[in-house]
Amino acid sequence: MTALRINGSTKMAGSPKGGLTIGYREAIRLLLAAEAASEFPDFVREELPAIISHWLQSPEDPPILLDASYVEKWVTILRSFLQLRNHNPASGEIRVTKHAKPVNVDFDGLPFQPSLKKPKFTFLDLFAGIGGFRIGLESLGGKCVFSSEWDRHAKETYFQNYGEVPFGDIQRLSSHRLVSTEVDVVAGGFPCQPFSRAGVSARTSLGLNHGFECQTQGQLFYDVVNVAKIHRPKMLILENVGNIEKHDGGNTLEEIKRSIKEDLNYSFTYKIYNSNTLVPQSRVRCIIVAFRDREAKENWEMPSLEGAPKPLRSILENIPWDSKYTLSDAMWEGHQRRSKRNVERGTGFTAYPKDLDKPATTLVARYYKDGKECLIPQASHPRLVPRMLTERECARLQGFPEEFKTHPSKLHAYKQFGNAVPVPLVSEVAKYALNEI
Ligand SMILES: C[S@@+](CC[C@H](N)C(=O)[O-])C[C@H]1O[C@@H](n2cnc3c(N)ncnc32)[C@H](O)[C@@H]1O
Repeated sequence: MTALRINGSTKMAGSPKGGLTIGYREAIRLLLAAEAASEFPDFVREELPAIISHWLQSPEDPPILLDASYVEKWVTILRSFLQLRNHNPASGEIRVTKHAKPVNVDFDGLPFQPSLKKPKFTFLDLFAGIGGFRIGLESLGGKCVFSSEWDRHAKETYFQNYGEVPFGDIQRLSSHRLVSTEVDVVAGGFPCQPFSRAGVSARTSLGLNHGFECQTQGQLFYDVVNVAKIHRPKMLILENVGNIEKHDGGNTLEEIKRSIKEDLNYSFTYKIYNSNTLVPQSRVRCIIVAFRDREAKENWEMPSLEGAPKPLRSILENIPWDSKYTLSDAMWEGHQRRSKRNVERGTGFTAYPKDLDKPATTLVARYYKDGKECLIPQASHPRLVPRMLTERECARLQGFPEEFKTHPSKLHAYKQFGNAVPVPLVSEVAKYALNEI
């Protein structure tokens, strides 16, 4: 059993010896019910599942957005509930114990449990998605002390894996002090649609702005800056699409650099990586690392992650040709027809079964629609109709561990992996950068 121990003074202790134990889901339900009638500002009420689930992972700290008095209150609620539940009414006796028993919160069954060890560093997981940064940074001894993600389905996957409900819209939160503890690292893949090649042409064709002029998504980089201004982490590690380097003739990246250097007074370094030396997928990403200790790190260089591209074959499951992942005949015919037309015109997308000895092409959020970006050949199929990747194969393409729980909806699982950061890209770059803090 992995459990956090909460006693009267809310110190976190080692593995539980005695005391009262409650599962983390039951504890969240109980505290939510207990606070149902309490007065809170609207945005705090909306965030209560996030506030309570975060607090259970760091019970030594005051709950985010609330004051320290809630610690005593919530421990007392949990303890009273457990004492009443454990009381045997048949004996007719209610025992009053001299010393308040510690309360253990049990995280059993979670694929990724909060660590009881003293963390090597703390981090904030912004634009958390399904936690590519979280797994990568936790694998290096980090402890996540705050996560934010506004998509309901991504939040569900996040909760199923880490037992934590991320906070919602970062634009509502970025001007607040989020955690009272020292923050070592702020991590985040700020939304890339306004900068990605597909995003730019889709927005242009709809007559919409892109990049920083995109009124909603384009401004989210500045929320990272706001959070960094308040918490002054030792390091930022950010991710975006490779195309951000060329976007608006280089002006977009230049503005990011200016803001990090001038608004925050941090160093600024970036590198474009193709993740295919770490995972069997061509995924070109820009990683930005910025240090608070600007002077000393001005000439710091990002690591080079060289190696042979990994073959797609290495992550495939053994799937029968008549599985639900096989394209319908109509869809496969449509793909072939459009591919032939596009080849003749010399433009557009072509959908062919992949060469399994090479990396897959970039997994994208729209993959669930028809799988055209990565079709798996099926020599055993009577008409050689290819299939789509399975959810587990997508997880592997992004370097998520086997124990990672995928979203039960195929559509959302594909979308979430299409948006994620490759876990080994985070851990390899961060491993190197963390030596500097
Ligand atoms: C590029 S994805 C990051 C994925 C993440 N790195 C992962 O490994 O799964 C950007 C995420 O930001 C989230 N997002 C967009 N706008 C947001 C906002 N205002 N507040 C919180 N999350 C937001 C999106 O829902 C999306 O999941």
